[in-house]
Amino acid sequence: MKAIEIRNKYLEFFKNHNHKVIPSAPLIPENDPSVLFTTAGMQPLVPYLLGQKHPEGTRLTDYQKCLRTNDIEEVGDNRHLTCFEMLGNWSLGDYFKEESIAMSYEFLTKVLEIPSEKISVTCFAGDEDCPRDNLTAESWKKAGIPEERIYFYGKEDNWWIAGEEGPCGPDTEMFYDTGKEPCSPDCQPSCGCGKYVEIWNNVFMEYLKKDGKYTKLAQQNVDTGLGLERMTMILENKETPFDTEIFKPVMDELEKLAKKDDIASRRLVAEHLRASIMVIADGGRPSNIDRGYILRRLIRRMTRHLNKLEIDLDELPNLIELNIETLKELYPELLNKKEECKEVIVQEKDKFMRTLIRGEREFEKVVNKIKAEGKDTIDSENIFKLYETYGFPPEVSKDLAEENGLKVNMDEVDKLFKMHQDKSRLGSEQKFKGGLAGTGEQEIKYHTATHLLNAALKVVINKDVHQRGSNITSERMRFDFSCDHKLSDDEKKQVEDLVNKWIQEDLTVTVETMKKEDAIKSGAECMFIEKYPDDVTVYSIGEVSKELCGGPHVKHTGELGHFKIIKEEASSSGVRRIKAILE
Ligand code: SER
Repeated sequence: MKAIEIRNKYLEFFKNHNHKVIPSAPLIPENDPSVLFTTAGMQPLVPYLLGQKHPEGTRLTDYQKCLRTNDIEEVGDNRHLTCFEMLGNWSLGDYFKEESIAMSYEFLTKVLEIPSEKISVTCFAGDEDCPRDNLTAESWKKAGIPEERIYFYGKEDNWWIAGEEGPCGPDTEMFYDTGKEPCSPDCQPSCGCGKYVEIWNNVFMEYLKKDGKYTKLAQQNVDTGLGLERMTMILENKETPFDTEIFKPVMDELEKLAKKDDIASRRLVAEHLRASIMVIADGGRPSNIDRGYILRRLIRRMTRHLNKLEIDLDELPNLIELNIETLKELYPELLNKKEECKEVIVQEKDKFMRTLIRGEREFEKVVNKIKAEGKDTIDSENIFKLYETYGFPPEVSKDLAEENGLKVNMDEVDKLFKMHQDKSRLGSEQKFKGGLAGTGEQEIKYHTATHLLNAALKVVINKDVHQRGSNITSERMRFDFSCDHKLSDDEKKQVEDLVNKWIQEDLTVTVETMKKEDAIKSGAECMFIEKYPDDVTVYSIGEVSKELCGGPHVKHTGELGHFKIIKEEASSSGVRRIKAILE
C-alpha cells in the first residue's frame, strides 16, 4: 500500500469515527520561538490538551510533518530519519483508553489488514508518580491481543512528554513483528534488535509536569502518533524506509550517479535532501543559529556525503527536482517551491565548498602530523582551531577523523567552545579603548553590526546620515549618528528589519587595501578622514556597505544572529544615539 493511501485511509477512518480533520501545521512552528521545529503532531495542540476549547470540537485527526534532530548522528543506518510524517488522532477530554485502543486495533487489523498475531503492545508498569496501567492492558485483551504479547515497562519506555515539562502521561505502544529471528530467548519489543518495529504510540495525557512534579490535568486526553514512513515500509514489505517509494527513486538515482557507492552515505543524502526541501518550503533559511543552523547542517552533511559518493555537485538541482516529483502526491505544496529549494541549497552548497576546501587541506596536515607522531587521537584544540580560523565545522572534523581511523573527544571539543564563549563574556566587562584588534568573538560581531546599522540608516533616513561615534562591549553596541530628528517607531522598525534582512542574506564581508583618496572616490564611508594613513583598509559587506576601517569583522553577516534596537535617544545637538543588541 502506498504512503498516500495509508494517510487517506487513516483520515477517512477517524472521520468515520466522528473526528474532524484539521490542517497540518508548518514544520516551523508559528508564534512559538521556544521550539525550533514541530517535533510531534501534538505540539500545535498543546493549549487544547491543557483545556482550551478547540473550534473543531473534542475529536481531531490530521497528518503532520515533523523534524527531530536528536538522532541526526544515526541517519545512514537502516531506520533513522530526521524528517517524518506523523498521522495522529486526538481526544480532548472525550474518549479515553478503552475506545482509543479499540479504534487503533480496528484500524491496524481491519483497514490495513495487519494480522493480529503480528502485533505486540506495551503498557506502563507504574511507579510513584502514576499507577500501573492495568486498564490499558485489559482494553488490549478485550480488543484481541493475548496476554503473552502484552508487555509492561517503566517511564523510559512507556511515558511520553515533549521535552522537560508540559502535558504528559503513560502511553501504550504498538509493535509489528517482522518475523526476524529473536536476538535472544529474552527478545522483546523494547530490546531494539530490529525484530519488533514500533508503529503507533497512544499517549494517555492526563498529567502535567511542572517544576518536577506531576499533577492531574483538568481533562483526560488521548494523543496518538503513527509513523507514516515506517508503516509504508511494513505494508510494502520492505526492510528499511529507504526501500519504499518515498525514498527509492532518489536512492536509485544516487546509486546510478555514484562513482563510489556507500549505502549509508546514500541514505544520508536522500534523507537530508528531503528534510532540507521540507524545511525550505516552509520558509527556513540557512544561518548560524537555531533553525537556520540545523538547515545549514543538513545541507552541509549532505554535500559532504555527495562528495564521498563522488557525485558531481552540479547534479543537485536534478536531484531536488526528482525528490519533489517523488513527493508531490504527499506534499503538492512543494511543487511551486522547486526553484526556491534549488536556489537555497545550491547557494549553501557553494558556500560550504569554499570552507571545506580550505579546511580539508588544513585538516590533512593535522592528520599527517598526528600519524607521524604515532598517535591515534586528534587534539580537541586542533578541531577548535580549524573552526576558529577556517570556519570548518567540528562535526565535519569528527566525521573526517573517523574516516581516518582517528579518535576525537567531542565532549572536550564542546568544552572548548564553551570556554571560548565564557572568555569573550569576561572580556566584555572591559570597554573598548580605541582599536578593536584582539577582541572577542561577540565584539567582532557587534563591530560588523555597526557597519550594517550605518548603511541601513542611510537607506531609511537619508544618505546624509553619518557615524559620529560608537562604543561596543560584548553585551551591546552603541552607535551615534548625525540626524536632525527623533526616529519614529516606524523608522526604527524599518532600520531593524533592513539590518536583519542583510543578516539573513548572509552577505560576505571582504577587505581590500587601497590608497586613501581612491577609497574616498570609490564612495567608501569614513568617519574621521584625517585619522587614517595613506594606505587604508576598506571593508565591504555584500553590496550594501563600504567603510574605511581597521577591522576585525566577521566573514559572513549570517553569523550575527538577530539585531534588535533597545533604545533611541538624543546624544548631543543634531546627533542621535542607538543602543542595540544581537540575540
Ligand atoms: N506525542 C506522541 C509521539 O510523538 C504520540 O503522538 O509519539
